Order: sequence, then structure tokens, then C-alpha cells
Amino acid sequence: MAPFFILLSTLVTFLILQPASSLDAKPSSSPLQNFLQCLSNHSNSALNNIYTPNNNAFLTILNTQTHNHRFTAATAPKPLAILVARDESHVQGTILCAKLHGIQIRIRSGGHDTEGLSYVSDVPFLILDMFAFDSVLVDIGTQTAWVQSGATLGAVYYNIAKHSNLHGFPAGVCPTVGAGGHFSGGGYGNLMRKHGLSVDNIIDAKLVDVNGRILDRKSMGEDLFWAIRGGGGGSFGVILSWQIRLVPVTPKVTVFRVKRDIQNGATDVVYKWQVISSKLHEDLFVRAMFEVVNRTNSKTVEVTFVGMFLGQTEPLIRLLNQSFPELGLVHSDCNEMPWINSTLYWFNSPIGTPIEALVNAPRGPTPGYFKTMSDYVKQPIPKESLESIWNLMIKVEHVKMEWNPYGGKMYEIPPTQTPFPHRSGNLFLIEYLTSWGEDGIDATNVYLNISRSFYEYMTPYVSHSPREAFLNYRDLNIGANNPSNVTRMDIAQIYGRKYFRDNLERLVYVKSKVDPENFFRHEQSIPPLLH
Ligand SMILES: Cc1cc2nc3c(=O)[nH]c(=O)nc-3n(C[C@H](O)[C@H](O)[C@H](O)COP(=O)(O)OP(=O)(O)OC[C@H]3O[C@@H](n4cnc5c(N)ncnc54)[C@H](O)[C@@H]3O)c2cc1C
Ligand SMILES: *[C@@H]1O[C@H](CO)[C@@H](O)[C@H](O)[C@H]1NC(C)=O
Ligand SMILES: *[C@@H]1O[C@H](CO)[C@@H](O)[C@H](O)[C@H]1NC(C)=O
Ligand SMILES: *[C@@H]1O[C@H](CO)[C@@H](O)[C@H](O)[C@H]1NC(C)=O
Ligand SMILES: *[C@@H]1O[C@H](CO)[C@@H](O)[C@H](O)[C@H]1NC(C)=O
Ligand SMILES: *[C@@H]1O[C@H](CO)[C@@H](O)[C@H](O)[C@H]1NC(C)=O
Ligand SMILES: *[C@@H]1O[C@H](CO)[C@@H](O)[C@H](O)[C@H]1NC(C)=O
Repeated sequence: MAPFFILLSTLVTFLILQPASSLDAKPSSSPLQNFLQCLSNHSNSALNNIYTPNNNAFLTILNTQTHNHRFTAATAPKPLAILVARDESHVQGTILCAKLHGIQIRIRSGGHDTEGLSYVSDVPFLILDMFAFDSVLVDIGTQTAWVQSGATLGAVYYNIAKHSNLHGFPAGVCPTVGAGGHFSGGGYGNLMRKHGLSVDNIIDAKLVDVNGRILDRKSMGEDLFWAIRGGGGGSFGVILSWQIRLVPVTPKVTVFRVKRDIQNGATDVVYKWQVISSKLHEDLFVRAMFEVVNRTNSKTVEVTFVGMFLGQTEPLIRLLNQSFPELGLVHSDCNEMPWINSTLYWFNSPIGTPIEALVNAPRGPTPGYFKTMSDYVKQPIPKESLESIWNLMIKVEHVKMEWNPYGGKMYEIPPTQTPFPHRSGNLFLIEYLTSWGEDGIDATNVYLNISRSFYEYMTPYVSHSPREAFLNYRDLNIGANNPSNVTRMDIAQIYGRKYFRDNLERLVYVKSKVDPENFFRHEQSIPPLLH
């Protein structure tokens, strides 16, 4: 990975110095040529940051911010061009010229969209790539920061830690995820029980709207500012940056990772976890992860409990001894470290890894194919049912699960405060992850089928009417049963209810106001009302 990454960086640097030369605009009526001529009128420097398939670095740039091999195959649709935004005028010009010439754009920040919607489309399209818009400006006096959309979560954490070891920010675990898409979809991580989601801690934003205007919270108004904090990227405009409110963390946090086998009583521990994990003290977050492992003569399901406590080992052990003794946590399981180091621990880096790894993590392309799906659980799953779920996991082998407890701050925030509706009443969020390494459409179909049947199997145990889903684990299976015979509003009624519940109406209302012609769109964007 490392030598490849150096090669990649060299290539990218080379390209930045040797920009596109394929634009000696000749009169032509192709939409791309028209777009490029229009763009040159708006911003000359934008043309220096355009990459078309004629460019040697086109595929490198295209594939650097991709994190699912499913959408990087040679057969996957490719953009007409990629515009790497390095100035606000590049974003404005791209929007105005793409709109004028009827070209769809896909906006990309960190490229982690689990269905590749930021860099694949089924109609001719351009990628507006925000990865170079990546500054993080921390103002420790006001305990806030301005984070550009291309900044990674690792860079957010790293820059906060440069200023203070008593501050952090509640967001996801993977350091290469981009702030642009992550915050747009809610953003959760191991601080959520104490401080809520990323969007619960966003206080301002800069966005370019469909008319090319740069708006902040005041000029966009509270409706649009509400919608962009969880209503999903790619529906309302292009986020340039977010202003976040930092949250306090203790000088040391305690982390642990303990493994239990279902052959050795883990089912009882998991059952108790379901009952207690959302009721534990809000300084404590304990995730349960499930995967199939090989033992000497058989396969079994191994459960890993990963935890973080905002405090030190002694009080943590005392707390768990009272509320969750079944876990059997002991001192030697625990590690104390500054919060910033814990962000690497959660990403499975060895203890002692220098925190520079947060900003040096290779950005991609990531090898391997995956499919994610999600569910919300409101009642503990009975023990016998847990046993049958383990049996199915062992049978299909390629599905992993991650269970993330709610409670604490998540229950205090009303479901209408942001578009993210899954608050009180949810015990935990399930992420299903099916991953594979074999190339080819046949393998893909087999694993997508496994993923879907596992999801079907879980139906009796999870939320229903609607069966809720988490937007950041975007899933095109939900809602698109027969797209040929339904209006976009019918489809949005299906996926929109699952992602947003009753907040869907307000999202559609805002969309109708700010982008009535539906310029910003993708397979699961918010549609305007038909007009
Ligand atoms: C390995 C991995 C780990 C993850 N871990 C977590 C986690 O711990 N917690 C969690 O909540 N989620 C997690 N996710 C999900 C992740 O938060 C979402 O995929 C998120 O949308 C990614 O943001 P991005 O900028 O990297 O993605 P992108 O693919 O760039 O964008 C995602 C969506 O947002 C739109 N968008 C991107 N940038 C902008 C912008 N500037 N303005 C407007 N729209 C924009 C895109 O068009 C697309 O629709 C994880 C995903 C992966 C693959
Ligand atoms: C560029 O701008 C000039 C002057 O505003 C205008 O006359 C011309 O039509 C524009 N060209 C394109 C391709 O938009
Ligand atoms: C378990 O072992 C089998 C072969 O013995 C192998 O095919 C499979 O990939 C292994 N599974 C895991 C989860 O390691
Ligand atoms: C756990 O609690 C029991 C009593 O409830 C006590 O006897 C025991 O010493 C405690 N263990 C720890 C490690 O605190
Ligand atoms: C935390 O990170 C710092 C800076 O990289 C490093 O010096 C220190 O050893 C780390 N501590 C732990 C416990 O990982
Ligand atoms: C998909 O899964 C179902 C149920 O497990 C099975 O009957 C069917 O044959 C599978 N199809 C493919 C293409 O694998
Ligand atoms: C589309 O739906 C309508 C009404 O539900 C139905 O009458 C019609 O047969 C459907 N057409 C196709 C092609 O499925």
C-alpha cells in the first residue's frame, strides 16, 4: 500500500503542475465542449483543474477517492470530466455551466458513499471533486472550527488535537471519510451517547446554491440550514465548509476490546448488552461486532465488544461491575490514552501509533468489494433468535454485523430537530457488511444476494412501518423495486420514509424552494414537489 501511495501522490502532484491540455476549444456542440467554454468564461483557473479521459491522470484522480471496488470496474460508467475544485469560483462555475448545458454533476468529498453515488451515474455526468478543499481552521478561543468539505475526519481530529487535548468532535471512526458527505448524512461515532451526532454540533455552513450564490446560515435561512444537517448530500447544493462546535473530552479516555465466542456463553452477554447498552452511563459507549471465524474443527461467531469511557480505568470497572458484570471486563483489558490516540485505536491501529497516521492514511482506491445495509432495533432480540442468527451467519459466512447502542444524548434530542429521525425508542443501529474479493458480475450477484437474504431474515427483529435505515449506510435496495413504473416521488416515499420518517415532508418542502428544477439529484436525493 505505501509505495503505491507514494506513486499516487507523485502522480497527483505532477498533474497539478501539468494541468489539462486537452481543452484547445474548437467550435463544437458536444455538451462537454460547451460546458468547458462556459466554464472558461466564469473562471479561467477552473480549466487548469479539469481532467478528461484524454488526461493521463484521469483514472488516478477518478479512483483515488473511491472506497468500493464495485464502482471502479472498467465497465462502471465514467464521468465526462472531473473538476478538482480549488477555489469557490470553480464550484460556482461548475454549477452554472452544468445547469446551462444540461449535464448532471456528482459531488464528491471523501468518496465513501457506500453505493458510489458521488462518482457513478447512469446518465452523462461530471464529478465535482472537493478533496482539495481540505482545510481545518480551529479557533480554540471560541471552541469552534471551520472544516472544509474535502477535509477527512482524521484531519479534523488531528487539527483539534494540535490545539487542545481537552477537545474532540463526535464523528465517525474511519479517518478517510470526508466531512462533505459524512456530516450531510448525520455522522455518528463513539461520542454519540455523550454529545450526539456530528450534525448536532454544527453551527454554521457555507454552501453554493443552484444559482451559484455562496450562502451561509444567515443568508440561507433556517429551513435550508436544517435540511443540510442530515438530509443527505447531493440534494440542496454544494457544501464548501462547515462550522463545528468542539466538545469537551477528558485528558485520558479508557478503551478496551474484548472477544467472546458464542460457544462460550457469548449469547447471554449479547442478550444483556441489548438490554443495557443504551441505558449505560453516557460517558460509556460499547459497540458489539460479530463475525464468523474458523476454530480448529468448526466455524463459530466471535463477538468483539469495543468500548470507550470518558474517564479512567477504575471508575469504568466499577461502573461495568454494577451495570454489566456479564461482560467480565478486567483491568488488563483496559488502556488509558488521550482521546486523539483513541481515534486510531478505534481504527484498529496498534497502541502507540503516531497520530500523524490520521492525516497520512492512504485515501484509496481500496481493494475489495462490499455492500452495506442497516437496521434499527427497538426490542431486544430473544436468545433463541440470536442463536438462529448466528447459525445463518455461519452458513453464509460473508456477512459481518456491527451493533451501535443509542441512548444518552441521542434520546434527549427531538426527532425533528434535524432531518435524522432515529432518536428515542431505538436500542441500537445494526450495520450489515458483506464483503468479497472475487472479481466479476457473477460473484457480485452471489454476494449481493447473500446480503439481501440476510436482511430479509432479520425482518421480524427490527423496526417496521417503516423499516428504518441510516442514510450514511446508503442502500439502493431499499425503495427501488420497480423504478420503471413509479414516479420519483413514489420511490422517495419509500426510501425517504426509511431514512427520514416524518421529516421527509419538510425536506421536500425545502428542496422545492431551493432547487425546484431538481438540478442536484441522484438515485436517492430529495425530490421537489412536482410543479
Ligand atoms: C469505511 C467506511 C467507514 C464508515 N464509517 C462511518 C461511521 O463511523 N459513521 C458514520 O456515520 N458513517 C460512516 N460511514 C458512512 C459515511 O459517513 C458516508 O458514506 C458518507 O456519506 C461519506 O462521506 P464522503 O464525503 O466520504 O463520501 P462521498 O462519497 O464523497 O459523498 C457521499 C454523499 O454526499 C454527497 N456529497 C459529498 N460531498 C458533498 C458536498 N461537499 N456538498 C454536497 N454534497 C456532497 C455526495 O454526492 C454523495 O451523495 C463509513 C463509510 C465507509 C465506507
Ligand atoms: C462568454 O462571455 C462573453 C462576455 O460576457 C459572452 O459574450 C459569451 O457569449 C460567453 N461565452 C460563453 C460560451 O458562455
Ligand atoms: C475458514 O476456512 C476455510 C477453509 O478451511 C476458508 O475457505 C475460509 O475462508 C475461512 N474463513 C474465515 C472466516 O477465515
Ligand atoms: C464487583 O462487585 C461485587 C459486589 O457487587 C464486589 O464483590 C466485587 O469486588 C466488585 N469487583 C470489582 C472489580 O469492583
Ligand atoms: C499518543 O500519541 C502521541 C503522539 O503521536 C504519542 O507520542 C503517544 O505515544 C501516544 N500514546 C499512546 C498511549 O498511544
Ligand atoms: C439468492 O438467494 C436465494 C435464497 O438464499 C436463493 O434461493 C437463490 O438461488 C440465490 N440466487 C443467486 C443468484 O445466488
Ligand atoms: C404500472 O402501474 C399501473 C398502476 O399501478 C398498472 O395499471 C400498470 O399495468 C403498470 N404498468 C407496468 C408496465 O407495469
